[in-house]
This record gives sequence, C-alpha cells and structure tokens, in this order.
Amino acid sequence: MPRTEFISTGFYVPDRVVRNEEFTQWMDTSDEWIRTRTGIRERHWAADDQATSDLALEATKVALERAGMKASDLDCIVFATVSPDYMFPGSGVYLQRKLGIANIPCLDVRDQCTGFLYGLSVADAWIRTGQYKRVLLVGAELQSVGLDLTTRGRDLAVLFGDGAGAAILGPTDDPGRGVLSTHLYSDGAYAELLWCNLGGTANRPRLSAEQIEQGLHWPKMVGREVFKHASTRMPASVHEALKVNGLTKDQITVLIAHQANQRISEMVQKQLELRDDQVYNNIERYGNTTAASIPIALDEYVQSGRLKRGDLLVLTAFGSGFTWGSAAIRW
Ligand code: UT7
Repeated sequence: MPRTEFISTGFYVPDRVVRNEEFTQWMDTSDEWIRTRTGIRERHWAADDQATSDLALEATKVALERAGMKASDLDCIVFATVSPDYMFPGSGVYLQRKLGIANIPCLDVRDQCTGFLYGLSVADAWIRTGQYKRVLLVGAELQSVGLDLTTRGRDLAVLFGDGAGAAILGPTDDPGRGVLSTHLYSDGAYAELLWCNLGGTANRPRLSAEQIEQGLHWPKMVGREVFKHASTRMPASVHEALKVNGLTKDQITVLIAHQANQRISEMVQKQLELRDDQVYNNIERYGNTTAASIPIALDEYVQSGRLKRGDLLVLTAFGSGFTWGSAAIRW
C-alpha cells in the first residue's frame, strides 16, 4: 500500500491587518492584555466581498502552482472549516466552482480546530487504498464576521483571525516517507465549553430577534477549561503518535501545533520536553485561524526551507467538540 505524501502546500491571508490596539475602540481591552495572555499581536481580516471559499481559492492557487498542477488534475476536495460561506451547501462545492472544475467529490469537514487533521486522516485513507490520487485538503476560516466586538465578547473576539492553508496530497511509493499515522479523538461531554448556540435545529424558533438580542448567535467559550484540556490533550496525542511509530521526542524535526494561544503552545512544548528549534509558532501574526492554523504554519515552515526530505513532522490540534488529535509525517 502506498503512503500519502504532501506534494505541495500554500496559504493565503487577507490584506487587512488588525493590530491589537484596534480592539480598544470597540471594547474594554488592551494590547498588553492580549499579548501577555495569548501571544497575539495582529491578525488578518477579510474584505467585505470575500467569503471563506475565496480565501481557500487563493491558498489553493498557490499550492497548485507549486505542484505544477492544474485544478483539473485534482480527484477530490476536502474542505475543513467552522465558518462556511453558507449554512449549506458546504464550502467545498463553492471552492470547486471557483476552481472551474466539476464532477469530483467535495467533502466538508467540521471538526473545528482539529478539522485539518480529520481531513488529513480521511484523505490519507483514500490515497492509501487508491480511491483518489490527487486530493486537495484545505483549512479555511473567515471568523471576523462572527465575533462579538463588544466587551461581552472580548475573550473570544481578540483571538480569532481569517486565513486559509492548502495541501495537495498524493501517493508515494517511497516506503520511508509520507503520513505514518493519524490519531483522532473527540469527547462531546464538553461540547458547550466552546460552541455557537444559534443557527441549528435544537432551538425553537430556530432563529429569532430575541435570541439575537441575547447574543446567542455569537460563539462562546469557557476559556480556562478549554485551555486546560488543550494543553494536556495535545501532548498526550503526540505521545501516542510517537509510540505507535516507535519514535522518540528527540527524533521530531518540528512540531506544529494548532495555534490557539502562545501559552498553550509553550505548555505543549514543555510537556513534550522539546527544544525551541523543534516547534514552530506564528500565532503572533495571525491569531487563531481554527482549521487553517496548521496548514498556514506548515506552509510558512516549508517555505523557510527548514523541512528536508526524511524529516519528522508532527502535527497536533485541539478544539471545540472537544476534538483533538495528531499526525506523524516523514517528509
Ligand atoms: O482554538 C481552540 C481552542 N481555544 C483555545 O484553546 C483557547 C483557550 N483559552 C485561552 O486561550 C484563554 O483562556 C483566554 C485567552 C481566552 C483567556 O485567558 P485567561 O488567562 O484564561 O483569562 P480568564 O478567562 O481567566 O480571564 C481573566 C480576566 C477576566 O477578568 P476578571 O474576571 O479577572 O476581572 C476576564 O474578564 O481577563 C478578562 N478578559 C479580558 N481582559 C481584557 C477576558 N478577555 C479579555 C480581553 N481584554 N480581551
């Protein structure tokens, strides 16, 4: 059975840069609070004429060009997002349409911050069994239009950013390379610790002016609980990935963890006893871009030239659901 390799990667963030200071015009916060509690200095926000699939399209164009491929070469699209263009259909078909292609499957993955890893796991299984040979995996988010920009929503509003990361995946016959394993977990017992109440079918009425007045359409989080779980479950899933493959932490070339909070990333690094050069973080410039954070960081790292063939790349994520997981990849 072949393994799955990353043929190329690409990312895109919108032009508008929103620095921490800007938030002080909308809510009671400060650059100092945001920087020291989260590590974030700035994030990018989309323009009014952009939807999530537009961000994904730009990231995809970069990945296609680097792969020397045309959109028509793709066999399948896997689109991970928690902020789709519309309630339905999923953003995958919009990306497909914008790419000018048809008649290939588009799978939309909604596993929040872990979406890219869930998508990778599915794409990897398809590629290994030979069902598809050229899979476009995208994580894209447009969070800025879904944030409560008042003091009531300040804990979440300052965290999130917009952006997209793409990877083109395919089979490799080199037995030493590719995705070694993926490890996925979830626990719905914690669903309401990070969620958005409104818009689904559990409420009667499904949507009312009164519910909106109460702010039920904004995402809500019990930050400290999420923090605790994120900083223990990510390292646990990395340990699992290492163990299954008979690897040790010293063999990790780079760990790219979902960029939720710099302090969480530092705790993950500490628990895994990794050196600074074994981790890559970029939350300072992009904030938390949910399903896009791993592929954006991955592409930045790849473009920096630091990831060489045969290196061990480990990915890990944690998010709403709760969902979490890891992947070990021999580059
Ligand atoms: O992406 C997937 C998952 N997401 C995460 O992993 C995020 C996990 N959680 C976190 O990153 C952190 O919990 C936060 C950054 C959200 C909050 O940091 P914290 O150190 O846990 O702060 P806290 O929630 O305990 O709040 C401390 C204080 C509170 O004030 P009082 O009650 O002590 O007076 C908050 O109201 O900070 C206040 N606060 C703020 N102050 C200024 C909360 N947000 C802000 C803000 N600016 N933006």
